Amino acid sequence: MDNSISLREKSSPSHQAGGGMSVVPLGGLIGAQVLGVDIAAGVDDAAFAFVRDALHQHSVIVLRDQHITPRQQTDFSARLGELRTSFYNRYAVGDRPELSIVSNIVKDGQAIGIADAGMLWHTDASYLAQPDMYTLLYGVDIPSKDGKVLGDTMFSSAWSAYDALPDALKKKLLGLKAVHSFVHHIEKKRTKGQLKRAELTAEQKAALPDVQHPVVRRHPINGRLCLFVTEGHTKEIVGLPAQESSELLEMLFQHLARPEFVYRHSWRPGDLVIWDNCALQHLAMFDYGDIPRKLHRAGVMGPVPV
Ligand SMILES: [Fe+2]
Repeated sequence: MDNSISLREKSSPSHQAGGGMSVVPLGGLIGAQVLGVDIAAGVDDAAFAFVRDALHQHSVIVLRDQHITPRQQTDFSARLGELRTSFYNRYAVGDRPELSIVSNIVKDGQAIGIADAGMLWHTDASYLAQPDMYTLLYGVDIPSKDGKVLGDTMFSSAWSAYDALPDALKKKLLGLKAVHSFVHHIEKKRTKGQLKRAELTAEQKAALPDVQHPVVRRHPINGRLCLFVTEGHTKEIVGLPAQESSELLEMLFQHLARPEFVYRHSWRPGDLVIWDNCALQHLAMFDYGDIPRKLHRAGVMGPVPV
């Protein structure tokens, strides 16, 4: 059942809850700020359910001015489901293996975090059989120059993109599967000159075999159909001639990036941004050069896409 419309109507332009919480949509098809949440002070079950409902309704939510420890971030994140420990474990935050550092900072010649995450449109961990359902990214150091904040993150609505396709194409896509590949992703980044990490070892490649997912997946909470091919990780559509596959994928990648589907987040230190990887794709802006940027990321495992 599609209950997203009724939820949207209930909360537009803002939805009040007990305890001073409210949701303020950010003006587009996706994105809302949730006000009145202080994670460090504690979030009871009713307040947490309010946050989770806002996430499912708006696909990406922003909780400003949070002052949270790594432990508080992982404890809060784990209330959404099982946390995934990244295979980039060397960038873990302190003693929290479920939390990764995303950063361009180099200390004593060593990168302290992942420096090239999100350069192409993608959904997190789509190259795994069970991709991440949610991501929780916490802004620690946010770069700016001449008063302008840098390093924005763009989000695009995968169900709005699907809904806007011509009916004949929607029907065709429903029966198709596509290959998602981490190895393809790394190769594509290298071709574009974007790779800022060591090449994959044979062992890493063997541990990350290609997977197949439906080109259109059904959202596990609200049943909406979401376009699920990404510029970053989708290698080919199964069963189509190579040229037809690459032309169709390129068209869909451009369609997903259309401005009407996109919310662009301008970060502040203390932002906790939570997004729904089934409902969205996202893209990081790399406009800050060597100006220090650091965020802490947690990922929540999701179901096998259907
Ligand atoms: Fe990502």
